[in-house]
Amino acid sequence: MKRRLYSGRDVNRAHSIDDLREMARRRLPNFCFEYIEGGAEDETTLRRNRNVFDEIAFLPRTLVNVEHRSQSRTLFGQRVASPFMIGPTGYSGLMYREGDVQLASAAAAAGIPFVLSNASTIALEDVVQRAGGRVWMQVYMYRTREFVAKLAQRSLAAGIEALVVTTDSAVFGKREWDLRNYIKPLMLDWRNRFDVLGHPRWMSNVLWPSGMPRFANLGDLLPPGQTSVKGATITLGQQLDPSLSWDDIRWLRDLWPKRLVVKGVLGAPDALRAVEAGVDGIVLSNHGGRQLDGAVSAMDVLPEVVDQVRGRLAVMLDGGFRRGSDILKAVALGADAVLLGRATTYGLSAGGQRGAARAIQILQTEVDRGLGLLGCSDIAALDRSYLRWHALSAAPALVYAGSAHDAVTAA
Ligand SMILES: Cc1cc2nc3c(=O)[nH]c(=O)nc-3n(C[C@H](O)[C@H](O)[C@H](O)COP(=O)(O)O)c2cc1C
Repeated sequence: MKRRLYSGRDVNRAHSIDDLREMARRRLPNFCFEYIEGGAEDETTLRRNRNVFDEIAFLPRTLVNVEHRSQSRTLFGQRVASPFMIGPTGYSGLMYREGDVQLASAAAAAGIPFVLSNASTIALEDVVQRAGGRVWMQVYMYRTREFVAKLAQRSLAAGIEALVVTTDSAVFGKREWDLRNYIKPLMLDWRNRFDVLGHPRWMSNVLWPSGMPRFANLGDLLPPGQTSVKGATITLGQQLDPSLSWDDIRWLRDLWPKRLVVKGVLGAPDALRAVEAGVDGIVLSNHGGRQLDGAVSAMDVLPEVVDQVRGRLAVMLDGGFRRGSDILKAVALGADAVLLGRATTYGLSAGGQRGAARAIQILQTEVDRGLGLLGCSDIAALDRSYLRWHALSAAPALVYAGSAHDAVTAA
């Protein structure tokens, strides 16, 4: 018989993120799945985000007592159950009714933080109140800076723990596979309209009774009555600010008293600028291959960034994480935490909160098993000596940085 991923409806029968992806593919109309799945232009960066993990191999230790294993860590002064969290994904309400609350609740139950996208369909105050747990808020630096200031004020009042500013979206990436589904902006072609009709389960969950979900955080930014997807997309496109600079980060730093994170750094020089700007953390990210096609993967630059800024701010990253082993490789290279994008979105799309919880559970189990098989009982002890990175041979500078670092940590 041919090998097949699980594609039924019981999320507990999913054994991997790929199973959840297959379930999501079947439950969602094509245009929704493509919105999650696709990358920019030739999707070179999207592929790189996955391929990079194949170039890193583990060097396990044998005959080590791994009876008790811990993957818990400290992030921004508090314990987290695992070295990963759910990152921001806009318009999650399109995948599942009240998608933002479902994701946030799954994260809270698992003891990991959740980053709410500012393009959510549930207001940030409601997400915090209904889900509990540690909620961070993602914002773009819109041209209307008063809106950003107001969102920061609302976040503070609601008990948001950290503000995450995404800086890789000065202009929109060109996601061609997504665009091909439309005759003109936001008008699906006939093929896709028929395809929607073939997904009654999704229609009754997401569209009934009010139609397409609306954006809930952007009310003050959008003209009256324009919180529909169409109104918002047009306005948000105009609101993206290509003149954004590090001065704007400093402006936000003065305004926001809690943890500030910059998402969209891809290299040591910008990581050092982030230190100078006084931020508390960075997320190395190419936006899941959805913005600049041809950009490096966050994993490509992680070692050099860690070598430059370790201890001065939290180094987080995202892009292509689908396995516990991927997460362990990032942690061994010095990452403080990994953000999940599509992995938990597949879970959400496959089965709401239970699906997102299943995605987290799969990854937590894989991290735990990976630690056991590596012969490392505490994730805090994981370092580069557990890895052999084939790519290093092509980048001698990194070999040096890596071994220098190992020498320091071994001492
Ligand atoms: C459907 C979707 C929506 C996204 N929306 C946002 C967003 O609103 N804000 C943001 O900063 N990043 C957004 N991202 C990027 C993710 O936060 C993250 O950088 C990326 O998904 C990581 O790659 P991965 O999906 O391969 O894990 C989105 C990604 C996806 C797949």
